[in-house]
Amino acid sequence: MRDEVLEFLRENQGGFVSGQDMSEACHVSRTAIWKHIKALRQKGYKIESYTKRGYRLLEEPDLLSPLAMKQILNTDVFGKRYVYMDTTESTNLEARRLAQQGAEEGTVVVSEEQAAGRGRVSRGWHSPFGKGLWFSLVLRPDFVPSEAPKCTLMAAVALTKAFHKMGLTSAGIKWPNDILVNGRKMVGILTEMSGSMEEISYIIMGIGVNVKTKQEELPEEIKHIATSLLMEGIDIERTEAFKIILENLEYQYYEILDKGFDETLDEWRKLSVTLGQDIEVRAPDNIYEGIATDIDEDGNLLVKTLNGDIKRIVAGDVSIRPRK
Ligand code: BTN
Repeated sequence: MRDEVLEFLRENQGGFVSGQDMSEACHVSRTAIWKHIKALRQKGYKIESYTKRGYRLLEEPDLLSPLAMKQILNTDVFGKRYVYMDTTESTNLEARRLAQQGAEEGTVVVSEEQAAGRGRVSRGWHSPFGKGLWFSLVLRPDFVPSEAPKCTLMAAVALTKAFHKMGLTSAGIKWPNDILVNGRKMVGILTEMSGSMEEISYIIMGIGVNVKTKQEELPEEIKHIATSLLMEGIDIERTEAFKIILENLEYQYYEILDKGFDETLDEWRKLSVTLGQDIEVRAPDNIYEGIATDIDEDGNLLVKTLNGDIKRIVAGDVSIRPRK
């Protein structure tokens, strides 16, 4: 219904449309129309209104619409199929549904907001309308399932390099796949895989990038641990940020497919803020303390623990500890 109102306003762009005409066209009351206009304004649409003349759409927010993106996106595969939504539960869920129906590699599913954005280890992901890039990519690499984490490391490298291009050179990677700026998280990656023991059917790579969020808009529990491009002084249109990110992801993905993983792994090491640090890792089996010395060729973290043993960590949450 909200989209019908928007479409109606768009069709008459530049001109006024009366509340009465809209309520007849959309088969709802004028009060309902007014409520929807209010909701659209909250999302950043600039809509003028005068008692006798009605409503006029003046400006749309910086949206990731297919029209806006197709004009600037310079990729061969990523985003050729571009599924755009105003709102959805989670782009990962939607991308999975499409992948099960055979969606091709490079399919991008993006939503202006997520009602139930999902993070790692059953956490949520704050995904307000128009403030970030909340998207999922369908990948179908010819890897064995144990190599799937390579895609996540590849994405962390591609994204960090994209932020450097945008001028944010302090962005770095915290193992396994958070991107931090000055110790605060700006990006999360949630990779989900489907396949058998022998082969990957598809990978859904879900990526959340905080772009326009201001500190006061963040929920209390992440106010002091999250950041956004804007909060770090990078005031970039979301479309432009998305273009740079998708182009970097495509480039880095074909690098690992064509040339193997070694060079990307070396880049990961250089971009890492974890290696060389005193850390604590909450792994599923235990909590380890020590120095993060390296990652191995499968992306596992190597930690030299206090008694000198080297532990190979496959999954876990890392906290970097300040040096005493
Ligand atoms: C993390 O916890 O660090 C991962 C967060 C991943 C969030 C993104 S936003 C787009 C995609 N859809 C989701 O529901 N989650 C991922």
